[in-house]
This record gives sequence, structure tokens and C-alpha cells, in this order.
Amino acid sequence: MGQNISGNNMQVMKSLLPYIWPHDRPDLRRNVVLAFIMLVIAKLTTVAAPIAYKAAVDHLTPVQNGEVSVGAALSLPFWIIMAYGAARIFMIVFNQIRDVFFVSVGQHAVRTLSRQTFDHMLALSLRFHLERHTGAVSRVIERGTRAVELVIRMGMLNSVPTVIEVFLISALLVYTLGWVFVLIIMVTIIVYVVYTVKASEWRILIRREMNEADNQAMSRAVDSLLNYETIKYYGNESQEVGRYDDSRALYEKAAIKTHVTLGYLNAGQSVIFTAGLVICMLIAGQGVIDGSLTLGDFVMVNALLIQLYQPLHFMGTVYRELRQALVDLESLFAILNRPPEIIDRPDAKSLQVSKAAIKFSDVHFSYDPQRPILKGISFTVPAGKTVAIVGTSGGGKSTISRLLFRFYELDKGSIEIDGQNIASVTQHSLRSAIGMVPQDTVLFNNSIFYNINYGKVFASGQEVKEAAKMAQVHDFISSLPEGYDTVVGERGLKLSGGEKQRVAIARTMLKDPPILLLDEATSALDSHTEQEIQLALEKISQDKTAIVIAHRLSTIVNADEILVLDQGVIAERGVHHDLVKQGGLYAKMWERQLKKAEAQQVLAKIQAE
Ligand SMILES: Nc1ncnc2c1ncn2[C@@H]1O[C@H](COP(=O)(O)OP(=O)(O)O)[C@@H](O)[C@H]1O
Ligand SMILES: [Mg+2]
Repeated sequence: MGQNISGNNMQVMKSLLPYIWPHDRPDLRRNVVLAFIMLVIAKLTTVAAPIAYKAAVDHLTPVQNGEVSVGAALSLPFWIIMAYGAARIFMIVFNQIRDVFFVSVGQHAVRTLSRQTFDHMLALSLRFHLERHTGAVSRVIERGTRAVELVIRMGMLNSVPTVIEVFLISALLVYTLGWVFVLIIMVTIIVYVVYTVKASEWRILIRREMNEADNQAMSRAVDSLLNYETIKYYGNESQEVGRYDDSRALYEKAAIKTHVTLGYLNAGQSVIFTAGLVICMLIAGQGVIDGSLTLGDFVMVNALLIQLYQPLHFMGTVYRELRQALVDLESLFAILNRPPEIIDRPDAKSLQVSKAAIKFSDVHFSYDPQRPILKGISFTVPAGKTVAIVGTSGGGKSTISRLLFRFYELDKGSIEIDGQNIASVTQHSLRSAIGMVPQDTVLFNNSIFYNINYGKVFASGQEVKEAAKMAQVHDFISSLPEGYDTVVGERGLKLSGGEKQRVAIARTMLKDPPILLLDEATSALDSHTEQEIQLALEKISQDKTAIVIAHRLSTIVNADEILVLDQGVIAERGVHHDLVKQGGLYAKMWERQLKKAEAQQVLAKIQAE
């Protein structure tokens, strides 16, 4: 497993490279270089400070024939102390400048990655979106994009500088005091790093537990909130809270574990470092007594090491945070690397629609290979004609519309529009040629205007109103206190089914595509509104090629052809009149609905009397 993790790490790091060194942004690449230069200068001044310190101490320690003599005349090492001060100030100033240069790179990376993720989410197939848990996915994205900033900032601003500093200090020590100190420091650092890595690896596992619990809690919370009404219908609030709390309890346990283990980690790190420091000071102290080192050397060793402790300790944090961030990033990249199921072919052309004739040839399809839904569907919709599809619920009618939109690939067969296979044209051109009024309309939680306007983003207010009038929804909207500015609530839940459906119809009318797909578009409407809309729908579908999936057969009696879908095949086809005469499935359905309609008429009569 450890191997696996580090393998992934390298890959994640590699995936990050283009974000740190963005090819399309020379200005940001320049900032990276400038930040790096600032960093080197800052580190040089950092190491210069202890040297100045040493020089000052040596200057204040009068030496006579190798003996320290107290009371000898001393001159104040004014310039050395000034240099010391300047070094410390420069160190801070250059660090700040470096951060300024770097922050633009980090933030650009966060934005790019967020945009790419969002873009990719939209490119992923319907299948992914039906399977996903919104809460969990949003958590993964949130953590992942925060992690990228952290990796870049910590990686570039801490790991690299610390390595430089260790290198500079070592060079300095070898030059001034000899290799023994360097050896001790190196051993200390190696032990320190090994310990940190081991301890962190162990903590990473806990971090994963924590993330999983966090995802689960979020996904449960979002799912519950989306099902608010259902929860109330069944009075299951406490059960929902319980489920949520179970996930939070897992998180709590894991979070406590991370903190406890952090305590161990920090304590261990301090012990290792302090041991190294003490050994160095003992040797330096002995050196002063032997006369091989000056008092200045002694304080310099201490100052250099103490100074090194901070970034080194930080490096422990950095490693830990980096590892955790990489875990977070891994999940994000798992989404990013998930290939979209439906992709444009490399040679895909725009769909050229002239008359918009549709042809289904022997279409086979299943969501799950175990359970075929469509088993050889063939039909044509000649240009400008209307074909109706009827059949039992769950028979695969909506599936046919999803296939025409190319939300899924066919198992076998083909779908053509004006002789072009829809699998060989761009998805964008295909979808812009089709207008869809779905069975269950979901609206954006925005104004009614926004939702209708969505059909054609550059439409004028007047056009939006025209469309609303045609869809018989203008009067309703005008009756609202806030009119077209009324916000419809999440998924449009503040509107009734019929109102939502009419907004969707208006939106499609505004889009005005050559092909129209109505999936039980009027099923949510009462029979009075239905008749009115039916007229409008017939009017707009007049010069369009249309597929109408119908629940109420009365709405399709005028269709050019009616297909009766049964058990995944077309059981009957023909015009209304012939199908009724045939006395098959369709005739039975018609009879049933007729009886219902008659009963309603009789009822209406009785009520009227
Ligand atoms: N995303 C999906 N994954 C698996 N099965 C699905 C999916 N969508 C629909 N189905 C199944 O496919 C069948 C046909 O569904 P659909 O085309 O929506 O029927 P309808 O004729 O009522 O519109 C149904 O039995 C349904 O359960
Ligand atoms: Mg359906």
C-alpha cells in the first residue's frame, strides 16, 4: 500500500506541474522566477545574520595571547551590529516580496483547477451524475482545490527554501568549523525526516478515514435536505439526524485521533532536533575551551541551528500537510481523470440540419447489460412530421429521448438525423438542434425570467414574454407579486408541476430548434390548461420534426404515426384510426382512457345539473 501511495504521489505531483509553471501565462512564469530569486536572497541574508552575530561577539571578546582578558579596552562593533540588523530586516523583506510574487501563481492554479474540475463535471455523462452524491463530490472538490494551493505554497515556499538553507549552512560550517558539525546536523536531519515520514504515513491512514466520514456526512446531509418534504411526510427527522450524526461521530473519532497523533509527532521531532543541537553545542563548547574555536563560533552554531529549527519543524508540518493534501488531491484527480462516457469523435463535424428527418435503425440499448431496455427499435420521423410514442410506464419511452440526445451510447444500431449518424457529429451541434420538454422539469433556483431566457441567452425581454404567452404561462407570471423576477426555489419547487412544465415549454419555444421532443409534456397539466397548451404545442411543432411521448392519447390523435412500445419493441404502429380498428394494445389503451373521459364528462354533467 505504501508503494502505491508514493506512486500516486509522484503522479499527483506531476499532474500539478503545469499549474505551477503555466504555459499560457508568461507573466506568471516570470513571477515564479522572481519569487525564486527573492527566495535565494532571503536565504543568503538569513545565513548572514548569525555570521554578523558571531563577528560581533568575537569583537567584544578581547583576546590576549589566547587568553580572555577582562577589562581590556573595547570598541563598539557598530557596523557589524548594523549589518546584523540589516540582514534580519532583509530576510523578512525579501520573504514578503517572494510571497507577493508567488501568491499570483498559487491562486491562478486554484482557479484553473477549479474551472477544469467544474468543466469536467459537466462533461461527465448522465450516468456519473445519476450515481454521484452531490454532497460528497462538492466536498472532494472543495478539499482538492484548497489542497492544490497548499501544495504549491508549502512545496515551493517551504520545502525548497529549507533545502537551500540546509545546504548554505552546511557549506558555511564546513568552511568555518569543520565537517564534524555538518555530520551531526546531517544525521539529525536524516533521523528527523525518517521519523516524520514514518509517523506521517501512519497518520495519513487516519486522515483518509476522516475524509470518508466527512464525505459521507455531507452526502447524507445534502440528500436529507433535498428530501425535506419526504422526511416531513414520514416524520423521520430524528432518524435523519441520527444518520447524519453517525457519520459525524466517525469523523469526530478520526479527528481526535489525528490530534493525539500530532502530539506524538511534535514531541518526537523536538527530542530529535534538540539532541542534535545539544551535541553540537557540547562540541563547540569544548572547542572554545581548547582554544580552537572562539566564543563567536559557539554562539553562531547555536544561532544557525535554532534558525534552522523553525523551517525544519515547519517542514515536518509541510510534509504532513503535503501528504494530506495529496490524499485530497488524489480524490479530486480521480474525478478529473474519469473519462467522460460520451466524447466527440476526433473527426466529429457539426450536425447539418436541413429538414431534420430522424431515423432510428435497429436500436438496442440497456443501462445495465443484465437488463435490456430497448430491443431493436426502428422508425423514421420524416421531416416536419410528428411521431408519437405511447406505451406502459417504464417501457423505455424516455430512454428513447435520452438516446436521441446522446446521453448514452447505443449497444447496437444507429440513430441518424438528415443522414448523419448522431454518434459522429459534435454533441454541441446535436443538442442545439433539439428542443426538449422533459417529463420532470427541474428549474434553476433563479428568477422565472432567467429560467425562460435560458433557452436563448441573447433573447430580448420581449421575446421571453412572447414565448411565455405562447406557453400559456404569461398570465400566471404576471399575477405573481414579483412577476418575471419571482425566484422559483431550489429545483423550481416553488412552482406547481404544471407551472414548471409551462416554463419549460416557454424555454423550448424560445430556443426554437428544428427538432422537438416532448416527453409527456402535458401530463402534469389539468385538462383545461392541457387543451390550451396542446394548441400552442401543435402550432410550434407544425413546421418542426417532432417526437411526442404521450401519456394521454387524446393529445396525439393527429400524429402522423403512433408507435406502441411494449417490452422493448414496437408492438404496433400506424395512425390513430387504424390502430383503434386493429383492436390490439393501442385500442385497449384508448378504450380505457375513453371510459375515464366519459366518466368525467358524466360527472361534470351531474355536477352542472
Ligand atoms: N439511469 C438508469 N439506470 C438504470 N435503469 C434505468 C435508468 N433510467 C431508467 N431506467 C430503467 O429503464 C426503464 C425505462 O425507463 P424510461 O425510459 O424512463 O421509461 P418510460 O417509458 O416510463 O419513460 C425503466 O424500467 C427504468 O427503471
Ligand atoms: Mg418517461
